[in-house]
Amino acid sequence: MKLVVARSMNSLSLLLLVIVSLSFSIGVNAADADPLQDFCVADLSKDLSMNGFPCKRASNTTVEDFIFSGLKQSANTSNPVGADAVFGSVFQYPGLNSLGLSIARLDFAKGGLIPPHTHPRASEMIYVVEGSMYAGFVTTDNKLFARVISKGDVMIFPRGLIHWQLNVGNTTAMGIVTLNSQFPGFQLIADSMFGSNILDEVLVKTFFIDEKAVQQLKSIFG
Ligand SMILES: *[C@@H]1O[C@H](CO)[C@@H](O)[C@H](O)[C@H]1NC(C)=O
Ligand SMILES: *[C@@H]1O[C@H](CO)[C@@H](O)[C@H](O)[C@H]1NC(C)=O
Ligand SMILES: *[C@@H]1O[C@H](CO)[C@@H](O)[C@H](O)[C@H]1NC(C)=O
Repeated sequence: MKLVVARSMNSLSLLLLVIVSLSFSIGVNAADADPLQDFCVADLSKDLSMNGFPCKRASNTTVEDFIFSGLKQSANTSNPVGADAVFGSVFQYPGLNSLGLSIARLDFAKGGLIPPHTHPRASEMIYVVEGSMYAGFVTTDNKLFARVISKGDVMIFPRGLIHWQLNVGNTTAMGIVTLNSQFPGFQLIADSMFGSNILDEVLVKTFFIDEKAVQQLKSIFG
């Protein structure tokens, strides 16, 4: 009897160990999954997907599947923040499927801002093609890493951390970013808080503002 209990305890702790080490390895190796083939151009017409898209047949894949021309066009910056992005994630660029990569182009009017946001699934690297921007990120213990970067500079925004870019030059600005996920996710902080219909009381108590201010912000982002 004792032996049975001891044995089941043993397998329980073994199971726990497996779970702990699995979550640890997922935690430290959390970029997109490694591919098991040379390429897997996404077949976006299939409605089933699990951690990526099914592959287009290799025999039907051509060089055009690997070329993306979307970034030739600038983003439209006639909007309230004066900046926007053209994304080249797997949805626009199916050749990225399973390769753990994506690209985007950021355009800024004078004074334009890509507001604070995170990419939950990717680190980002920006190359400043034109202009200068005050760019930065905040760590999970609220330490700020920010300064003005200009034409030719490259800056990294580590995975998941809140970051932004503000055009501080006298001209328009443009940057190219690459991210290590085929679909990094793009979550704007203010929009998430004030545009998602969270109960007012939560926002009042989170930001130490009154309900009127919450309503005002909700009307902007809602
Ligand atoms: C291969 O591509 C052709 C032309 O685009 C298309 O008509 C055909 O359905 C594709 N075949 C498969 C098996 O995907
Ligand atoms: C840019 O966006 C504005 C506001 O939505 C729109 O009026 C304008 O036509 C757009 N410009 C282009 C070139 O698409
Ligand atoms: C922008 O223009 C102002 C006024 O012309 C000038 O003082 C300033 O140095 C310029 N800034 C940059 C970054 O060129």
